[in-house]
Amino acid sequence: VFFPVILAGGKGERFWPLSRLNRPKQFLCLDGTDRSLLQATADRLLDLANGWDNLWVITSSLIAQGVREQLPELPSNNLLVELQGRDTAAAVAWTSLEIQKRYGDDAIIGFFPADHWIADQKVFAHTLNAASQLAATTDAIVTLGIKPTFPSTGYGYIEQGEKMGIFNDLPAYHVNRFTEKPNRETAETFLSTGRFSWNSGMFVFRAGVVLKELRIHAPEIIEPLEQNGAGIYPQLPKKSIDYALMEKTDLAYVLPVEFGWDDLGDWNAIERLLKTADSPNVELGTHVGLDTKGAIVYASNEDDVIVTIGMDDVVIVRDRNVTLVVKKDRTQEIKEVLKIIQGDS
Ligand code: GDD
Ligand code: MG
Repeated sequence: VFFPVILAGGKGERFWPLSRLNRPKQFLCLDGTDRSLLQATADRLLDLANGWDNLWVITSSLIAQGVREQLPELPSNNLLVELQGRDTAAAVAWTSLEIQKRYGDDAIIGFFPADHWIADQKVFAHTLNAASQLAATTDAIVTLGIKPTFPSTGYGYIEQGEKMGIFNDLPAYHVNRFTEKPNRETAETFLSTGRFSWNSGMFVFRAGVVLKELRIHAPEIIEPLEQNGAGIYPQLPKKSIDYALMEKTDLAYVLPVEFGWDDLGDWNAIERLLKTADSPNVELGTHVGLDTKGAIVYASNEDDVIVTIGMDDVVIVRDRNVTLVVKKDRTQEIKEVLKIIQGDS
């Protein structure tokens, strides 16, 4: 059996003011359908899990109630609630311990971010079956590599090594090196070699393998959890699995994938997804634009009208009591603003 786990504890701050503390981005419908990112992720995984009994979600206490409402069929025992978000290394460690306790060392676990867009469900399922085969038959930490299209500094990079076999018709490769979120210069160098793929953020392995690797490379996270249980959470270091494990392990493998993928990380991703040739702007809500192109406009209230004159390449978001206007290439800085106005977000 395959146990998919949805990582659903992030805040999605770069979608503020649409994302707020108690309504993070995984609860939002951002891909043009009426399913939230979280629900769309569960939809994709349900068949692979063979039903709700094998699907897990880990999230933080602030938004656990929202997860229950959005996924009413999820068994309550399969929802892990973190006292505080400590980033993904702790989330992977705790979930793997719980699944290992219930199903043993050979349980195959897959971790899935809740902020992805995937175009082709069939190819996605085929690829995950290949990943499970690889994880079942070798001591592998399996990553899925995406062909990079620009020198992004927001992704992890995987350097492909030698071919190690074919699984479910797909070639798998050793990973020579994993580099999380490099700077621009390094990203450009990586891209120019043609040997690197983006880390999709999805990982597949057996419970016993990941726990062994965490004990070696991230004892500061796994040991307190094993000794004290999840009550220790607030004292755990805040680290992502990419830094805590992926950059260090020698057991990483990569399956290059071709299912059409995007990380819905900020408003620019919404543009990549929803921009059509016949409109100069992306409009979610009523927008009257004079001499305006390349804008991304969102209004959550039906009655609101956003009017722009001579405003190219901006993001304008109107939600309840907040209006945000930001240049498209500066949406990363929304996080900085939130530090200043915290509490009000
Ligand atoms: N339960 C829990 N607790 N989940 C969390 C926490 C936490 O403290 N922090 C983040 N998550 C969830 C998010 O909700 C998201 O679904 C997933 O973990 C990944 O976190 P992000 O914060 O979105 O990571 P990222 O996009 O910056 O980077 C990761 O994904 C990229 C691809 O999308 C890395 O794995 C990169 O290497 C990768 O390229
Ligand atoms: Mg992400």
